[in-house]
Amino acid sequence: MRCNCNNFTMAYNLLKGKRGVIFGALNEQSIAWKVAERAVEEGAQIVLTNTPVALRIGAVSKLSERCNTIIIPADATSVEDLKNLVDKAMDHLGGKIDFVLHSVGMSPNIRKNIPYEKIDYNNFFKTIDISALSFHKLLQVLYEKDAMAEYGSVIALSYIAAQRAVEGYSDMAEAKAMLESIARSFGAIYGRKRKVRINTVSQSPTLTTAGQGIAGMADMYNHTNNLSPLGNASAEECADYVVTLFSDLTRKVTMQNLYHDGGYSTMGISAEGLKK
Ligand SMILES: NC(=O)c1ccc[n+]([C@@H]2O[C@H](COP(=O)([O-])OP(=O)(O)OC[C@H]3O[C@@H](n4cnc5c(N)ncnc54)[C@H](O)[C@@H]3O)[C@@H](O)[C@H]2O)c1
Repeated sequence: MRCNCNNFTMAYNLLKGKRGVIFGALNEQSIAWKVAERAVEEGAQIVLTNTPVALRIGAVSKLSERCNTIIIPADATSVEDLKNLVDKAMDHLGGKIDFVLHSVGMSPNIRKNIPYEKIDYNNFFKTIDISALSFHKLLQVLYEKDAMAEYGSVIALSYIAAQRAVEGYSDMAEAKAMLESIARSFGAIYGRKRKVRINTVSQSPTLTTAGQGIAGMADMYNHTNNLSPLGNASAEECADYVVTLFSDLTRKVTMQNLYHDGGYSTMGISAEGLKK
Protein backbone atom coordinates (compact mmCIF):
# COMPACT_ATOMS: atom_id res chain seq x y z
CA MET A 1 0.00 0.00 0.00
CA ARG A 2 1.30 3.43 -0.90
CA CYS A 3 -0.08 5.49 1.92
CA ASN A 4 -1.32 5.37 5.43
CA CYS A 5 -4.16 7.86 5.20
CA ASN A 6 -3.63 8.93 8.82
CA ASN A 7 -0.07 9.87 8.07
CA PHE A 8 0.12 11.15 4.52
CA THR A 9 3.18 11.65 2.46
CA MET A 10 2.07 14.55 0.28
CA ALA A 11 3.62 13.04 -2.82
CA TYR A 12 3.05 15.95 -5.23
CA ASN A 13 0.21 17.90 -3.56
CA LEU A 14 -1.67 17.56 -6.85
CA LEU A 15 -5.09 17.74 -5.19
CA LYS A 16 -4.34 20.11 -2.33
CA GLY A 17 -7.52 21.90 -1.27
CA LYS A 18 -9.71 19.91 -3.66
CA ARG A 19 -12.98 18.23 -2.71
CA GLY A 20 -14.09 14.94 -4.22
CA VAL A 21 -16.72 12.20 -4.20
CA ILE A 22 -15.66 8.57 -4.79
CA PHE A 23 -18.21 5.92 -5.85
CA GLY A 24 -17.54 2.18 -5.78
CA ALA A 25 -14.96 1.31 -3.10
CA LEU A 26 -16.03 -2.14 -1.88
CA ASN A 27 -12.82 -3.70 -0.58
CA GLU A 28 -9.05 -3.22 -0.79
CA GLN A 29 -8.98 -4.66 -4.32
CA SER A 30 -11.45 -2.08 -5.68
CA ILE A 31 -10.03 0.46 -8.10
CA ALA A 32 -12.05 3.13 -6.25
CA TRP A 33 -10.38 2.15 -2.96
CA LYS A 34 -6.96 2.86 -4.48
CA VAL A 35 -8.19 6.14 -5.99
CA ALA A 36 -9.59 7.24 -2.61
CA GLU A 37 -6.28 6.55 -0.86
CA ARG A 38 -4.26 8.23 -3.60
CA ALA A 39 -6.53 11.31 -3.74
CA VAL A 40 -6.20 11.82 0.02
CA GLU A 41 -2.45 11.26 -0.20
CA GLU A 42 -2.38 14.11 -2.74
CA GLY A 43 -4.13 16.46 -0.31
CA ALA A 44 -7.81 16.09 -1.25
CA GLN A 45 -10.77 15.91 1.09
CA ILE A 46 -13.19 13.20 -0.04
CA VAL A 47 -16.58 11.63 0.64
CA LEU A 48 -17.19 7.93 -0.05
CA THR A 49 -20.39 6.39 -1.36
CA ASN A 50 -21.73 2.95 -2.23
CA THR A 51 -25.02 1.04 -2.01
CA PRO A 52 -26.41 0.12 1.43
CA VAL A 53 -25.80 -3.58 0.58
CA ALA A 54 -22.17 -2.96 -0.38
CA LEU A 55 -21.69 -0.97 2.82
CA ARG A 56 -22.93 -3.98 4.82
CA ILE A 57 -20.84 -6.63 3.06
CA GLY A 58 -17.78 -4.57 2.12
CA ALA A 59 -15.00 -2.98 4.12
CA VAL A 60 -15.74 0.66 3.34
CA SER A 61 -15.89 1.78 6.99
CA LYS A 62 -12.23 0.78 7.31
CA LEU A 63 -11.39 3.03 4.33
CA SER A 64 -13.45 5.90 5.73
CA GLU A 65 -11.56 5.71 9.04
CA ARG A 66 -8.24 5.66 7.26
CA CYS A 67 -9.24 8.61 5.10
CA ASN A 68 -10.88 10.44 8.00
CA THR A 69 -14.16 10.90 6.20
CA ILE A 70 -17.83 9.94 6.00
CA ILE A 71 -19.77 7.47 3.87
CA ILE A 72 -23.06 8.56 2.31
CA PRO A 73 -25.11 5.56 1.12
CA ALA A 74 -26.56 5.88 -2.39
CA ASP A 75 -27.80 3.54 -5.07
CA ALA A 76 -26.41 5.12 -8.24
CA THR A 77 -29.59 4.19 -10.16
CA SER A 78 -31.75 6.31 -7.81
CA VAL A 79 -31.97 10.02 -8.68
CA GLU A 80 -33.35 10.71 -5.17
CA ASP A 81 -30.31 9.01 -3.59
CA LEU A 82 -27.97 10.95 -5.86
CA LYS A 83 -29.62 14.29 -4.97
CA ASN A 84 -29.27 13.50 -1.27
CA LEU A 85 -25.66 12.41 -1.79
CA VAL A 86 -24.66 15.59 -3.63
CA ASP A 87 -26.34 17.86 -1.01
CA LYS A 88 -24.72 16.02 1.90
CA ALA A 89 -21.33 15.82 0.19
CA MET A 90 -21.28 19.59 -0.40
CA ASP A 91 -22.32 20.19 3.25
CA HIS A 92 -19.58 17.91 4.54
CA LEU A 93 -16.87 19.15 2.15
CA GLY A 94 -17.83 22.81 2.68
CA GLY A 95 -18.31 23.86 -0.93
CA LYS A 96 -18.54 22.81 -4.57
CA ILE A 97 -17.08 19.51 -5.73
CA ASP A 98 -13.81 19.46 -7.72
CA PHE A 99 -13.79 15.80 -8.77
CA VAL A 100 -16.00 12.71 -8.92
CA LEU A 101 -15.08 9.08 -9.63
CA HIS A 102 -17.86 6.85 -11.02
CA SER A 103 -16.47 3.34 -10.41
CA VAL A 104 -19.75 1.46 -10.66
CA GLY A 105 -20.60 -1.65 -12.64
CA MET A 106 -22.70 -4.79 -12.39
CA SER A 107 -24.40 -7.19 -14.79
CA PRO A 108 -27.01 -9.59 -13.39
CA ASN A 109 -26.60 -11.65 -16.61
CA ILE A 110 -22.90 -12.14 -15.88
CA ARG A 111 -23.53 -12.72 -12.20
CA LYS A 112 -26.07 -15.47 -13.06
CA ASN A 113 -23.79 -17.00 -15.75
CA ILE A 114 -26.38 -16.44 -18.49
CA PRO A 115 -24.66 -16.64 -21.91
CA TYR A 116 -24.84 -13.55 -24.16
CA GLU A 117 -26.85 -15.41 -26.82
CA LYS A 118 -29.52 -16.26 -24.21
CA ILE A 119 -29.56 -12.93 -22.43
CA ASP A 120 -32.44 -12.02 -20.11
CA TYR A 121 -33.76 -8.57 -21.04
CA ASN A 122 -34.87 -7.52 -17.56
CA ASN A 123 -31.32 -8.22 -16.45
CA PHE A 124 -30.04 -6.31 -19.49
CA PHE A 125 -32.02 -3.21 -18.42
CA LYS A 126 -30.49 -3.49 -14.95
CA THR A 127 -26.98 -3.78 -16.39
CA ILE A 128 -27.53 -0.63 -18.44
CA ASP A 129 -29.14 1.25 -15.55
CA ILE A 130 -26.41 0.40 -13.03
CA SER A 131 -23.37 0.55 -15.29
CA ALA A 132 -24.20 3.35 -17.77
CA LEU A 133 -27.42 5.29 -17.13
CA SER A 134 -26.32 5.91 -13.53
CA PHE A 135 -23.52 8.06 -15.00
CA HIS A 136 -26.04 10.26 -16.83
CA LYS A 137 -28.20 10.46 -13.69
CA LEU A 138 -25.17 11.51 -11.64
CA LEU A 139 -24.11 14.15 -14.18
CA GLN A 140 -27.65 15.51 -14.46
CA VAL A 141 -27.95 15.84 -10.67
CA LEU A 142 -24.53 17.55 -10.45
CA TYR A 143 -25.50 19.90 -13.31
CA GLU A 144 -28.93 20.79 -11.94
CA LYS A 145 -27.51 21.54 -8.51
CA ASP A 146 -24.56 23.42 -10.05
CA ALA A 147 -22.46 21.30 -7.70
CA MET A 148 -19.19 21.14 -9.65
CA ALA A 149 -16.47 23.79 -9.37
CA GLU A 150 -15.09 25.37 -12.58
CA TYR A 151 -12.64 23.01 -14.27
CA GLY A 152 -13.95 20.21 -12.08
CA SER A 153 -13.28 16.70 -13.37
CA VAL A 154 -15.60 13.69 -13.57
CA ILE A 155 -14.16 10.27 -14.45
CA ALA A 156 -15.94 6.97 -15.11
CA LEU A 157 -14.15 3.65 -15.53
CA SER A 158 -14.55 1.76 -18.80
CA TYR A 159 -13.18 -1.27 -20.61
CA ILE A 160 -12.04 -2.00 -24.20
CA ALA A 161 -15.04 -4.29 -24.76
CA ALA A 162 -16.82 -1.00 -25.62
CA GLN A 163 -14.88 -1.08 -28.95
CA ARG A 164 -13.91 -4.75 -29.46
CA ALA A 165 -15.70 -8.06 -29.01
CA VAL A 166 -14.54 -9.63 -25.74
CA GLU A 167 -16.20 -12.99 -25.17
CA GLY A 168 -17.48 -13.32 -21.63
CA TYR A 169 -17.99 -9.57 -21.12
CA SER A 170 -21.62 -10.00 -22.22
CA ASP A 171 -23.99 -7.00 -21.89
CA MET A 172 -21.35 -5.02 -20.00
CA ALA A 173 -19.87 -4.29 -23.46
CA GLU A 174 -23.03 -2.37 -24.44
CA ALA A 175 -23.07 -0.65 -21.05
CA LYS A 176 -19.46 0.53 -21.47
CA ALA A 177 -20.14 1.77 -25.02
CA MET A 178 -23.05 3.82 -23.65
CA LEU A 179 -20.97 5.05 -20.71
CA GLU A 180 -18.29 6.40 -23.06
CA SER A 181 -20.93 8.03 -25.25
CA ILE A 182 -22.49 9.76 -22.23
CA ALA A 183 -19.05 11.18 -21.35
CA ARG A 184 -18.86 12.73 -24.83
CA SER A 185 -22.46 14.00 -25.02
CA PHE A 186 -22.63 15.44 -21.48
CA GLY A 187 -19.01 16.59 -21.74
CA ALA A 188 -19.92 18.87 -24.65
CA ILE A 189 -22.68 20.58 -22.65
CA TYR A 190 -20.96 20.64 -19.25
CA GLY A 191 -17.73 21.93 -20.80
CA ARG A 192 -19.35 24.71 -22.79
CA LYS A 193 -21.75 25.88 -20.07
CA ARG A 194 -19.83 25.31 -16.82
CA LYS A 195 -16.21 24.43 -17.76
CA VAL A 196 -16.49 20.94 -16.27
CA ARG A 197 -14.55 18.08 -17.92
CA ILE A 198 -15.83 14.54 -18.31
CA ASN A 199 -13.71 11.56 -19.37
CA THR A 200 -13.66 7.77 -19.21
CA VAL A 201 -10.56 5.73 -18.36
CA SER A 202 -10.40 2.36 -20.12
CA GLN A 203 -8.50 0.17 -17.70
CA SER A 204 -6.67 -3.18 -18.14
CA PRO A 205 -8.26 -6.32 -16.70
CA THR A 206 -7.82 -5.99 -12.94
CA LEU A 207 -8.32 -8.66 -10.29
CA THR A 208 -11.14 -7.05 -8.29
CA THR A 209 -14.55 -8.40 -7.18
CA ALA A 210 -16.23 -7.14 -10.39
CA GLY A 211 -13.28 -8.25 -12.54
CA GLN A 212 -13.21 -11.75 -11.15
CA GLY A 213 -16.92 -12.13 -11.92
CA ILE A 214 -16.09 -12.23 -15.67
CA ALA A 215 -15.83 -15.78 -17.08
CA GLY A 216 -12.23 -16.62 -18.05
CA MET A 217 -10.81 -13.56 -16.24
CA ALA A 218 -7.51 -15.28 -15.35
CA ASP A 219 -6.82 -16.17 -19.01
CA MET A 220 -7.95 -12.73 -20.15
CA TYR A 221 -5.61 -11.13 -17.63
CA ASN A 222 -2.64 -13.23 -18.81
CA HIS A 223 -3.42 -12.66 -22.49
CA THR A 224 -3.48 -8.86 -22.23
CA ASN A 225 -0.50 -8.90 -19.89
CA ASN A 226 1.52 -10.78 -22.50
CA LEU A 227 0.37 -8.61 -25.39
CA SER A 228 0.80 -5.19 -23.72
CA PRO A 229 4.34 -3.83 -24.15
CA LEU A 230 4.21 -2.43 -20.62
CA GLY A 231 2.08 -5.23 -19.15
CA ASN A 232 -1.34 -4.77 -17.56
CA ALA A 233 -1.96 -1.63 -15.53
CA SER A 234 -2.70 -2.35 -11.87
CA ALA A 235 -5.42 -0.73 -9.75
CA GLU A 236 -2.73 1.35 -8.00
CA GLU A 237 -1.42 2.59 -11.36
CA CYS A 238 -4.99 3.40 -12.40
CA ALA A 239 -5.31 5.51 -9.24
CA ASP A 240 -2.11 7.39 -10.14
CA TYR A 241 -3.50 8.16 -13.59
CA VAL A 242 -6.94 9.18 -12.33
CA VAL A 243 -5.37 11.57 -9.81
CA THR A 244 -3.60 13.41 -12.66
CA LEU A 245 -6.96 13.70 -14.43
CA PHE A 246 -8.51 15.21 -11.30
CA SER A 247 -5.64 17.68 -11.02
CA ASP A 248 -5.19 21.14 -12.58
CA LEU A 249 -2.50 19.70 -14.89
CA THR A 250 -5.14 18.31 -17.27
CA ARG A 251 -7.59 21.21 -17.47
CA LYS A 252 -8.19 20.95 -21.22
CA VAL A 253 -8.73 17.18 -21.38
CA THR A 254 -12.39 16.39 -21.82
CA MET A 255 -14.83 14.11 -23.72
CA GLN A 256 -12.10 11.47 -24.12
CA ASN A 257 -11.92 7.75 -23.62
CA LEU A 258 -8.38 7.36 -22.28
CA TYR A 259 -6.75 3.93 -22.47
CA HIS A 260 -4.79 2.94 -19.39
CA ASP A 261 -3.67 -0.50 -20.46
CA GLY A 262 0.10 -0.71 -20.97
CA GLY A 263 -0.37 -0.20 -24.73
CA TYR A 264 -2.69 -3.19 -25.26
CA SER A 265 -5.35 -1.26 -27.23
CA THR A 266 -2.88 -0.25 -29.96
CA MET A 267 -1.02 -3.58 -30.32
CA GLY A 268 -1.43 -5.86 -33.31
CA ILE A 269 0.99 -8.78 -33.15
CA SER A 270 3.50 -9.12 -30.35
CA ALA A 271 6.55 -11.37 -30.85
CA GLU A 272 6.68 -11.92 -27.11
CA GLY A 273 2.94 -12.69 -26.98
CA LEU A 274 3.27 -15.22 -29.84
CA LYS A 275 6.00 -17.12 -27.99
CA LYS A 276 3.74 -17.41 -24.96
N1 LIG B 1 -11.74 -5.05 -12.80
C1 LIG B 1 -11.55 -4.89 -14.10
O1 LIG B 1 -10.98 -5.75 -14.81
C2 LIG B 1 -12.03 -3.62 -14.76
C3 LIG B 1 -11.49 -3.24 -16.01
C4 LIG B 1 -11.98 -2.07 -16.61
C5 LIG B 1 -12.97 -1.33 -16.00
N2 LIG B 1 -13.47 -1.73 -14.79
C6 LIG B 1 -14.54 -0.94 -14.18
O2 LIG B 1 -14.07 -0.38 -12.97
C7 LIG B 1 -15.22 -0.07 -12.15
C8 LIG B 1 -14.95 -0.57 -10.73
O3 LIG B 1 -14.89 -1.95 -10.68
P1 LIG B 1 -13.81 -2.76 -9.84
O4 LIG B 1 -13.09 -3.61 -10.82
O5 LIG B 1 -13.04 -1.87 -8.94
O6 LIG B 1 -14.73 -3.78 -9.00
P2 LIG B 1 -15.51 -3.62 -7.61
O7 LIG B 1 -16.41 -4.80 -7.54
O8 LIG B 1 -14.56 -3.43 -6.50
O9 LIG B 1 -16.37 -2.28 -7.81
C9 LIG B 1 -17.65 -2.23 -8.41
C10 LIG B 1 -18.48 -1.34 -7.52
O10 LIG B 1 -19.75 -1.03 -8.12
C11 LIG B 1 -20.64 -0.86 -7.00
N3 LIG B 1 -22.05 -0.88 -7.42
C12 LIG B 1 -22.74 -1.91 -7.98
N4 LIG B 1 -24.03 -1.55 -8.17
C13 LIG B 1 -24.15 -0.27 -7.71
C14 LIG B 1 -25.22 0.65 -7.63
N5 LIG B 1 -26.46 0.34 -8.06
N6 LIG B 1 -24.99 1.88 -7.10
C15 LIG B 1 -23.75 2.23 -6.65
N7 LIG B 1 -22.68 1.40 -6.73
C16 LIG B 1 -22.88 0.16 -7.24
C17 LIG B 1 -20.28 -2.06 -6.12
O11 LIG B 1 -20.83 -1.97 -4.83
C18 LIG B 1 -18.77 -1.98 -6.16
O12 LIG B 1 -18.26 -1.16 -5.12
C19 LIG B 1 -16.42 -0.70 -12.84
O13 LIG B 1 -17.08 0.28 -13.62
C20 LIG B 1 -15.77 -1.73 -13.74
O14 LIG B 1 -16.58 -2.08 -14.84
C21 LIG B 1 -13.01 -2.84 -14.15
